[in-house]
Amino acid sequence: MSLMDAAREVREKAYAPYSKFKVGAALRAEDGQVYVGCNVENVAYPEGTCAEAGAIAAMCAAGARRIVEVAVIGDSAHPVTPCGGCRQKIAEFAAPEVTVTMGTMAGLSVTMTVAELLPGAFGPGHMETE
Ligand code: THU
Repeated sequence: MSLMDAAREVREKAYAPYSKFKVGAALRAEDGQVYVGCNVENVAYPEGTCAEAGAIAAMCAAGARRIVEVAVIGDSAHPVTPCGGCRQKIAEFAAPEVTVTMGTMAGLSVTMTVAELLPGAFGPGHMETE
């Protein structure tokens, strides 16, 4: 199964009663395994979590730490792009050249790198004082 198909499959499990916008994310880790996540909303809206965050949590819980490829899918006219917070979350575990493919249910897709999605990313180097 392709990474996008894995994202498409898990998207069906999203809990999105408030936005009605289901999102699925799948990432391949350097252990070769695919980890998936869906958005999980909450009546206290800010407590909802994005699909990408769920996939990253699943990867970490399995003991993997490095992402080598990402796919995200939503039912929109234009490919869904990860929110700002998720770009930072992905950047924590992925090299700048890792690709993020963003897809629609109709089959459109756009691929960008982590560096393109989050230019000037805050990183550990920014905390150095010398
Ligand atoms: N959402 C994601 O899960 N990932 C994205 O990349 C964009 C947005 C979710 C958050 C919320 O549950 C819904 O989509 C509408 O913003």
